[in-house]
Amino acid sequence: MTAPLDLKAYLAQQENKSFLRFLTCGSVDDGKSTLIGRLLYDSKLLFEDHLSALEKDSKKFGTDGENIDFALLVDGLEAEREQGITIDVAYRFFATDKRKFIVADTPGHEQYTRNMATGASNSDLAVVLIDARKGVLTQSRRHSYICSLLGIRHIVLAVNKIDLVGFNQVIFDDIVKDYRAFAENLGFASLVPIPISARYGDNVISRSPRMPWYQGPALLDHLNTVDAESDLAARPFRMPVQWVNRPNLDFRGFSGTIASGAVRPGDAVVVAGSGRTSTVARIVTYDGDLDEASAGDAVTLCLADEIDVSRGDVLAPAAARPEVSDQFSAHMLWMAEDELLPGRQYLLKVGAKTVPAQVTELKHKVDVNTFEHLAAKTLHLNEVGYGNVSLTMPIAFDPYRDNRDTGGFILIDRFTNATVAAGMIDFGLRRATNVHWQALDVHKRARAGLNHQKPAVLWFTGLSGSGKSTIANLVEKALFAEGRHTYILDGDNVRHGLNRDLGFTDADRVENIRRVGETAKLFVDAGLIVLVSFISPFRSERRMARELLAPGEFIEIFVDTPIEECMRRDPKGLYEKAVAGEIANFTGISSPYELPETAEMVVKTQGRTPQDCATEIVRFLKKRDIVP
Ligand code: ADX
Repeated sequence: MTAPLDLKAYLAQQENKSFLRFLTCGSVDDGKSTLIGRLLYDSKLLFEDHLSALEKDSKKFGTDGENIDFALLVDGLEAEREQGITIDVAYRFFATDKRKFIVADTPGHEQYTRNMATGASNSDLAVVLIDARKGVLTQSRRHSYICSLLGIRHIVLAVNKIDLVGFNQVIFDDIVKDYRAFAENLGFASLVPIPISARYGDNVISRSPRMPWYQGPALLDHLNTVDAESDLAARPFRMPVQWVNRPNLDFRGFSGTIASGAVRPGDAVVVAGSGRTSTVARIVTYDGDLDEASAGDAVTLCLADEIDVSRGDVLAPAAARPEVSDQFSAHMLWMAEDELLPGRQYLLKVGAKTVPAQVTELKHKVDVNTFEHLAAKTLHLNEVGYGNVSLTMPIAFDPYRDNRDTGGFILIDRFTNATVAAGMIDFGLRRATNVHWQALDVHKRARAGLNHQKPAVLWFTGLSGSGKSTIANLVEKALFAEGRHTYILDGDNVRHGLNRDLGFTDADRVENIRRVGETAKLFVDAGLIVLVSFISPFRSERRMARELLAPGEFIEIFVDTPIEECMRRDPKGLYEKAVAGEIANFTGISSPYELPETAEMVVKTQGRTPQDCATEIVRFLKKRDIVP
């Protein structure tokens, strides 16, 4: 392609073209990368230097003999090429004389559903590739279902490798029938089946003479004309605030990308969370002020009044506000190797806002082949489920079907920072029967004063048999003898009552600690020093319990006894049974114990008496002024 002479005119012409964002998906080896390469190559959108590099690479890595291997065009990174797989989303830009395109090339391997979902959340149309020899596979169904969940409404069913089945119409028709029956309930607005050969270009750029029975459009013709662009500009105005721009005292603006709708100076806006209102005074950009800005524009808004707006707030019209709630129900696609643990605290990010959140109730998971709802307590890698999510504070959002930017979220693991799930908000929930926090006159400080102590949680964590309960018991006796007000919550005892319904799976342990953390908090509120003695093997839940309390109130005491010593002591004979395989999920044997990293105290028990350890702890409490 030669450079256009009049660059300005060329760019202006590009500006005015419509834009289509699409992705390709399907199973491994269905030919996604080859198809994209073919689209780029045949529509002459490659630059000369790309072409010569490609010819060289094809000789080195290609799987297509002396011919150019188009998949190499898109399988970007060297490392990926050497493994022969695509491992991330590759976005390609190309244009025809009718339209501009951004295509997301996403890998087909099971474990990379995450990338596929990322691509889908940014696309208006999906090209679902099917290998004509294999027909509709579970992976094709899974990807189509995820596309539908992520708001894609237009599908091209590209039945590829049609040359390998002798351009057979019956095979094509059967696949289309099969897919239509499956896709019926997915709510797609258009579904266009096209028989293609990505490798040889049949029906990709133009109609192939080798399939006279096919009367529909070639792929590129369809992409050029399909009416699939999102109508974001027509929706109510939403702008998540990315940052508050305050270079000096005279200027205060709120910067972000408009997610939907349009805004003009003089428009009345509301900060969705606080409900405070103002009007837009200016729309500032690098190129000067604007009279109007709309979906996709990155702008800085100045408001007429000094109102509180911070990063993560959403600006919206007063007359069409988003929902504000601290609970909602949502679809979730689980994308991590570690299973979902309902009750565990994750970080939830929606727009520019990040808040701690829990999946409080998983209602079901979805069988992607039949759409059946299956009972589930957890979600595994690539599974889709539906349930309730609860946040530590209210946020502003829209249902995902109304707005993908303000209704889509991700869940993040608090320790690894990895994205573990993608979520689509269905609707907001209110607290059951309008429960409001009741302010009481006799409060924690008053009670603590009466007790002459600083209420606190002494959180004993460690392996079974490490000595937690024995030492906690001695510490309580010492405090009691001094006239302190205390209580012990012991794992074995609490599991006889409050937590009688819980076992030892990861999910049950999370719930076990969540409940005891909340209970400990109530005891602290009652002005007591509460000694908690639970294995509490997971860092996440110890941290959650800590964060329920005020700084300084939570004292984590790691009772540090090597497992060999715990096994030697084996006070309840449990290790012997666990090693014999008679107890499943036994901590230290068949279930992990995550070492504390933030413990206030580490008490080593080996070679010491429990009394000695208890005395050390009481001394520490005096130093910390818990017991003055
Ligand atoms: S936690 O992991 O959920 O914090 P918790 O402290 O409540 O455990 O209960 C641990 C006690 O349950 C142990 O001291 C032991 O007596 C008993 N127990 C029974 N089965 C198991 C198991 N699979 N793993 C650990 N402890 C078990």
